[in-house]
Amino acid sequence: MVITVASFKGGVGKTTTAVHLAAFLQKHAPTMLVDGDPNRSSTEWGRHGKLPFRVVTEREAALHAREFEHIVIDTKARPEEEDLKELARGCHLLVIPCTPDPLSLQALRLTIQSLQAIGADRYRVLLTVVPPKPSRDGEDAREMLSSLGVPVFSTSIRRLVAFQRAVLEGTTVAEVEDPRSRAGWEDYDAIGNEMLGLATRAAA
Ligand SMILES: Nc1ncnc2c1ncn2[C@@H]1O[C@H](COP(=O)(O)OP(=O)(O)OP(=O)(O)O)[C@@H](O)[C@H]1O
Ligand SMILES: [Mg+2]
Repeated sequence: MVITVASFKGGVGKTTTAVHLAAFLQKHAPTMLVDGDPNRSSTEWGRHGKLPFRVVTEREAALHAREFEHIVIDTKARPEEEDLKELARGCHLLVIPCTPDPLSLQALRLTIQSLQAIGADRYRVLLTVVPPKPSRDGEDAREMLSSLGVPVFSTSIRRLVAFQRAVLEGTTVAEVEDPRSRAGWEDYDAIGNEMLGLATRAAA
């Protein structure tokens, strides 16, 4: 399975999502993370060798692809519409992280319009960095997207400091010593299972 993580807006959790979905898939079958962002944030994250899967650049990917059952592709922010078209065509599922704030949601609308214009249908929005109650931002964003008919993963990723520590420590959130690290992993675990369910249904 090839999963691509993309969004028009930067800093919405693409790399965090790519790393954690790759860690999820690696539990099922050999998985490689392809770092398609010239900033090389995923490569940097994995530089201590503590991530449970292989991280390679786009240019190295072809050589290694057949050793892996699953491939997760992290991409740069602000792709051109043409890039998005190729990204959507080149995967089984496009995961589009979005934070529940007005700017991010506005950028998401553009992304969805572009995807609709090119007839893409294998995509799903992931609400991420969602603040805790009493904030209603996550729920409001979900309702808004659902009312527009946008497909959204049924679990959201909570905003947790443990995710920032995971980057610094070069591990997944599950390895971070923090009372909330398990909650962070559970969120991505739920997304991974939902994703596998989608793939199974698509294959049936
Ligand atoms: N669920 C979360 N809770 C708290 N912080 C988070 C969460 N997800 C991501 N972050 C933090 O938000 C910042 C941006 O995340 P990330 O690098 O994954 O975004 P990105 O979309 O890949 O950014 P870029 O467009 O620059 O590639 C990072 O500091 C990351 O640690
Ligand atoms: Mg990134």
